[in-house]
Amino acid sequence: MGLAAVILAAGKGTRMKSKTPKVLHQLAGRPMLRYVVDAVTGAGVDRILVVAGPEAAAIGEVAGSRAEVVVQEQQLGTAHALLQAESVLKDYDGDLVVLPGDTPLLRVETLKRFYADCRRQEGIEATVLTVRFQDPTGYGRVIRNQDGKVGRIVEHRDATQEELLVNEVNAGVYCFKPSIFEVLRKISPCNVQNEYYLPDVVKLLQEDGVAVGCWEAPDPEEFRGVNDRRQLAAASQLIRRRILECLMDEGVTVVDPSATYVDPDVVIGQDTVIFPFTFLEGKTVVGTDCRIGPWARISDSHLGAEVEVQNAVITGSVIENQAAIGPYTYIRPGCLIGSAVKIGGFVEVKKSKIGPDSKVPHLSYIGDAEIGRNVNVGAGTITCNYDGAHKWPTIIEEDAFIGSNANLVAPVRVGKGSYIAAGSTITKDVPPGALGVARGRQTNIPDWRKKGSPQ
Ligand code: UD1
Ligand code: MG
Repeated sequence: MGLAAVILAAGKGTRMKSKTPKVLHQLAGRPMLRYVVDAVTGAGVDRILVVAGPEAAAIGEVAGSRAEVVVQEQQLGTAHALLQAESVLKDYDGDLVVLPGDTPLLRVETLKRFYADCRRQEGIEATVLTVRFQDPTGYGRVIRNQDGKVGRIVEHRDATQEELLVNEVNAGVYCFKPSIFEVLRKISPCNVQNEYYLPDVVKLLQEDGVAVGCWEAPDPEEFRGVNDRRQLAAASQLIRRRILECLMDEGVTVVDPSATYVDPDVVIGQDTVIFPFTFLEGKTVVGTDCRIGPWARISDSHLGAEVEVQNAVITGSVIENQAAIGPYTYIRPGCLIGSAVKIGGFVEVKKSKIGPDSKVPHLSYIGDAEIGRNVNVGAGTITCNYDGAHKWPTIIEEDAFIGSNANLVAPVRVGKGSYIAAGSTITKDVPPGALGVARGRQTNIPDWRKKGSPQ
């Protein structure tokens, strides 16, 4: 028997007060919906349908190529949302698992156990996943019959004072037989929100004498819905914590997990130490035995082993083994920083290659440059790469020594083992082994003070 997942993601997300659809809000660097799609994918369903609102294209992109997007033109409620999937599933005779797109904390293992248990129960048309919260505010309450079976679900806003005391709630996750679509059509929007509520299927099935099952999840935290920005922040914190715990289990030291932000796709090697106020984002890979932070923001970059980064921003670049970056350093996209290179304070590097053992220790701008092995770039050196219309390259060959405060006006080549005198503005190539000097000679005017200088 097959299994299709239908993720309801078309809601307006009014409580977010945002122009962005709720399920596209980011948690730890990923849109909320991606967590749900990944969980159902991991749990091994045959088909994934996502019910989307007007922003269907953006939702489809996040859901990925495996998901089929169904559009709900008007957001008339969760039952109406599920009904939109009927035509797509008309020839499908497997089970359906329905989930909200705003429950990003659910785990693959829990979903697997839920389906497995649902399938084991004979003659049950629908199973509701329930959890118990100490504070169930906002959730639909599970009202049980006298025989202890689930009788109906009442939404918070429609509940009586007595019903509000119930702390068993509907997680918004259900397992249905395909015949559920007939029941959905019988739902009416007679409630405070004038919406077609999916949980109303429970009552309708009961009235028809059809058995409804109930499955209580062991960890309620997985089913915390994200409906407003406070819940978004709370869920992000839990996701970040999970990511850091996995990393710590794999041998990464996280000095202060409450001040460390690592996206889910980041890979970090053993014995690397992450100091506080560090953000590792996107597809970043950090090698073994690195020391990262305090204060580092590294996005979509690849760091080798034994790299040190402090107070730095690194984006879209490769940093090879034993390089030392920072403090106060900005590595912009397209850089290849070679092994044992030092890039120091107040240095900005853009789209440049820096060869092994070279140093750019202080106050420099290096853009569109190719620097060979063992080059020393003196303090305050600037590659003048932009003439107002085009960007031009600077090439500095191995073993060159650039004196402090040099301007290298590109396109220009500084030859192997050559020297540039401090304070020079170099506009012509410097041959290998030469000294390039391009500055006014110093003149000392004797007795200047006596001859009536202002001082
Ligand atoms: C819903 C349940 C509630 C449950 C809670 C668990 C209903 C009526 N209530 O409440 O019993 O305790 O989830 O988190 O189902 N959606 C659509 N189209 C719509 C409306 C909603 O696709 O017309 C989607 C939303 O994008 C969201 C999901 O359905 O992902 C749930 O909707 P939401 O408004 O968040 O319902 P809750 O009030 O959280
Ligand atoms: Mg919700």
